[in-house]
Amino acid sequence: MQEATKTAATVRLLDLHPPASNFARDVLTGLSDSPKWMSPMYFYDAEGSRLFDLITELPEYYPTRAELEIMGAFMPQIAARVGPRACVIEFGSGSGLKTRQLLQGLDRPVAYVPVEISRDHLVASASELAAEFPAIEVLPVCADFTAPFELPEPDAHQARNLVFFPGSTIGNFATAEAGQLLEVMHTEAGPGGALLIGVDLRKDRSTVEAAYNDDAGVTARFNLNLLERINRELGANFDLAAFEHRADWNAEAGRIEMRLISGRSQTVAVDGETVEFEVGETILTEYSHKYELSEFAELAARAGWRVEQVWTDAEALFSVQFLARD
Ligand code: AVI
Repeated sequence: MQEATKTAATVRLLDLHPPASNFARDVLTGLSDSPKWMSPMYFYDAEGSRLFDLITELPEYYPTRAELEIMGAFMPQIAARVGPRACVIEFGSGSGLKTRQLLQGLDRPVAYVPVEISRDHLVASASELAAEFPAIEVLPVCADFTAPFELPEPDAHQARNLVFFPGSTIGNFATAEAGQLLEVMHTEAGPGGALLIGVDLRKDRSTVEAAYNDDAGVTARFNLNLLERINRELGANFDLAAFEHRADWNAEAGRIEMRLISGRSQTVAVDGETVEFEVGETILTEYSHKYELSEFAELAARAGWRVEQVWTDAEALFSVQFLARD
C-alpha cells in the first residue's frame, strides 16, 4: 500500500474555461419562482463544505459509512471487474477517501482525471493526489461535467476508461437530469469504457428522514448556510432565526426533499431586489433520490449502460454498481 502524504505536486491542468456561474442571478431566479427554489450546488462554499464533512460523520447519515464499507470489503472484486491499466475519470474533484481507496485498490491504473468546475479546489486536490500516487498520471480537467467535454491523453496507454461517480451525488439530480448525466458519462467512457457509481437505495421512511434531520442539527446548519452565504456574498439581510430546516421523504417520487420554511411573513433584500415571504412559505433547496435497483438499472439502460454487478453494505442501505457500455 502506498504511503499517504500531504505534499503537493505540480499537475498539468486542462482548463476548458467553463462559464462562471452567476450566483446573484441564479438566487434571484429561484426566489422569484413559485414555489421558490435554490440550486444545491450553492451549498458548497468553504463553510458548506466543512458542514458537509461533518454530516458524513453523523450517526444518522449512513451513506458515506456504507459506501466506504462496500469499497473496503469488495475492492478485490471491483478491481477484477475493472481490470488492469484503467484511466479513472472522476466526475468531481476526488478529494475524498473513496478516490484513494480506488486508486490504491485497482490494478496499476495509468491515469486519474478529476473533472470539476471549481478550478482552485480541483488543482489543490489533484496536486495532493499526484504527490500521493507518483506512479499515476494525474490530469485534472476544469469543466462543467454535465455536458460533454474534451479528455486529456495520458502518456501511458490505458486499457479502458473507468468513470467514477461516488457518494450518490447522482441522487441530487432530478430523474431527467440524472439520465442526461449518465449519457455524458457514456460518451466520456468511450468504447469499452465502464462506470463505477455509488447509488443510495430505497428504504424505510424513518431511516432516511433521520439521515437528513439529525439530532445535532448539522444538516439544518448546512441548509441554513445557503441563506448565510447569500447574506455574506450578496449583502442580503435574511434573518436566519426566521427560517427553519425541513427534510421530508416523498415516497411517490422516491426522494428526500429539503426545504427552508419561513416562520413569519417577511421581506428580504437580496442584491438590490426585494423578496416577499408568506408565513410557512418554502424554498426547495435539494432533492436526494433513493433508487430501487431495478429503477436505477432502467435509467442507466436508457443511457446505454448495462449493470454488471451490484455490491451493497451488510444492511443493504447503499450500493456501489459496476456498469459496462452496451
Ligand atoms: C452530496 N449529496 C449526495 C448529499 C445527499 O445525501 O444527498 C448532500 C446532503 N444533503 C443533506 N445531507 C447531505
